[in-house]
Amino acid sequence: MLSWLYRLGGSGWKRLAVRVGIPAAAFAVLVLGPGYIATQPGFLDRYARLDVQYRTWSQSVHAKVACQSCHVPPGVIPRTSYDLKMVGEFYLSMVAPGREPKLFDKPTNEACRSCHPDWRTVSPSGDLNIPHRAHVQVLKVNCIDCHRYLVHEKSPEGNNKPTMAGCLRCHDGHTAKNACATCHTDKVEPLTHRAADWLVVHSQKASADCNKCHAWTRHWCADCHAKRPRSHGTDWRSQHGAAVAKHRNCEACHTSDFCIRCHGVVPSLNFDPSLKLVQ
Ligand code: HEC
Ligand code: HEC
Ligand code: HEC
Ligand code: HEC
Ligand code: HEC
Ligand code: HEC
Ligand code: HEC
Ligand code: HEC
Ligand code: HEC
Repeated sequence: MLSWLYRLGGSGWKRLAVRVGIPAAAFAVLVLGPGYIATQPGFLDRYARLDVQYRTWSQSVHAKVACQSCHVPPGVIPRTSYDLKMVGEFYLSMVAPGREPKLFDKPTNEACRSCHPDWRTVSPSGDLNIPHRAHVQVLKVNCIDCHRYLVHEKSPEGNNKPTMAGCLRCHDGHTAKNACATCHTDKVEPLTHRAADWLVVHSQKASADCNKCHAWTRHWCADCHAKRPRSHGTDWRSQHGAAVAKHRNCEACHTSDFCIRCHGVVPSLNFDPSLKLVQ
């Protein structure tokens, strides 16, 4: 092949042009062209396994950001080896069209940081304190631990934002603070809540206004009722009988089955069959 190239062309600059030009053209046609095509997001449309990711990405705010900008760490070596791998995939996809290679790892912090700074401390709306650097650099939380719903999936709340439930994994009152005002600036407990009988009357006062603070989960009454209330202290096992006597409507959170588990029968005192478990 090479000796054939050397025999081609006449003499002088013409021969040089042929000797350099033909390999260069071949390189462009066989490597650069396929490399360019295979590193465009559109190329990935052929892999059925990536259908969902491709579609969701194309509708996201990151639709102009190539897949590899997030999924391949920045730097010459990782990006070049991705490009070379994709040249191979270009040819393999012609001989074996059904192939479903694993092309992407989870995005790294470095990839996100190549476009976004990490010094943000509040959400764009201003309601939420979110010291990014403290979490990313000091606590070593990855961007995608919080931003996992960013591109391909909607959060249970139906948007692409981090969820409050995700924060509460750590912000449980032990590992990190869980008071609303730690994170939110406009969700201070209202005065109504200070009333001595608030816990008894809150279900009757419920209105759409409560949503401003409590509707961060869809079933907000039931979700709160699934948490151990303050009344249930360490000696609750021995004290709950007395509480029943004071009529605190245990049925808002417990079915009679729960009491039967220990008592064998429904305890007689004040168990009001008309009050339903809060769903
Ligand atoms: C703005 C950044 C971003 C872009 C651009 C992006 N993704 Fe993603 N991708 C993510 C995030 C975030 C996840 C979720 C990671 C997780 O589950 O923790 C993800 C997950 C994935 C996964 C699952 C990976 C795994 O190991 O679970 C695949 C596959 C994927 N993306 C493919 C694509 C494809 C194909 C494109 C382009 C069409 C693309 N992504 C573009 C951010 C991005
Ligand atoms: C190649 C650059 C680039 C990379 C890499 C990138 N982004 Fe973005 N990001 C953007 C652009 C551009 C926007 C849209 C900005 C706008 O519309 O104001 C955006 C928007 C966002 C938003 C706002 C989302 C919304 O719904 O409004 C978040 C959050 C975000 N990026 C986080 C990330 C995270 C986390 C990663 C890493 C997984 C990442 N980005 C990777 C360029 C990038
Ligand atoms: C501890 C959780 C957490 C971590 C870790 C985290 N973020 Fe965020 N980020 C948030 C929250 C919460 C918001 C505010 C979202 C909202 O309410 O719009 C936010 C907002 C943003 C925004 C602004 C979004 C917009 O709409 O303009 C960008 C950009 C962003 N984060 C990028 C990053 C990047 C890049 C990293 C990693 C270096 C990162 N985040 C790590 C929780 C986190
Ligand atoms: C991996 C665990 C983890 C996750 C997830 C996490 N945090 Fe944190 N966060 C911490 C720790 C630990 C501290 C420092 C201890 C403290 O202040 O209680 C902290 C501190 C904070 C602080 C500063 C508190 C202060 O002292 O004023 C804010 C605000 C905060 N986090 C908001 C958030 C938000 C919003 C999210 C979710 C988007 C989140 N965090 C998710 C672990 C976490
Ligand atoms: C560790 C941080 C953190 C704590 C503590 C926290 N939240 Fe949240 N909350 C978030 C994040 C993150 C979101 C989702 C981001 C968004 O929607 O902007 C959110 C969303 C919400 C929403 C839905 C969005 C809105 O602003 O209307 C409500 C309501 C809410 N929280 C109420 C509360 C109440 C009440 C408390 C105290 C019992 C509380 N939160 C404690 C981080 C926190
Ligand atoms: C401005 C924000 C805000 C509004 C509006 C709001 N709440 Fe609350 N609520 C809070 C905060 C903050 C707490 C304390 C939560 C915690 O620490 O877990 C709380 C706690 C509660 C508790 C538990 C009290 C206790 O002692 O354990 C009940 C019950 C409750 N709210 C019901 C309601 C009802 C019903 C409404 C509507 C009439 C409502 N809230 C409106 C912020 C609010
Ligand atoms: C922030 C947490 C929280 C929320 C949100 C909440 N509850 Fe409660 N609820 C409680 C606690 C705590 C008690 C138990 C009080 C006690 O220990 O005696 C209670 C008790 C009750 C009771 C029995 C009250 C009585 O007569 O003694 C009813 C009924 C009730 N809740 C209904 C509701 C309904 C309906 C909603 C939604 C509109 C709701 N709750 C939202 C925490 C909550
Ligand atoms: C984990 C087991 C357990 C469960 C569940 C339980 N109890 Fe009890 N209960 C006990 C024990 C043990 C005592 C005796 C406490 C003592 O006197 O030291 C008791 C005592 C009582 C008493 C005092 C009268 C008596 O029979 O001794 C009442 C009333 C009572 N329970 C009601 C209830 C109700 C209502 C429920 C359901 C909401 C319930 N209990 C669920 C274990 C349980
Ligand atoms: C706001 C909701 C709520 C109300 C109201 C409530 N409980 Fe509970 N209770 C719980 C939760 C949540 C647990 C923990 C359940 C678990 O761990 O499976 C619990 C646990 C218990 C236990 C198990 C013993 C223990 O220490 O774990 C007993 C007994 C009990 N409750 C009795 C009662 C009685 C009696 C009443 C009425 C006076 C009552 N509860 C009212 C939510 C509630």
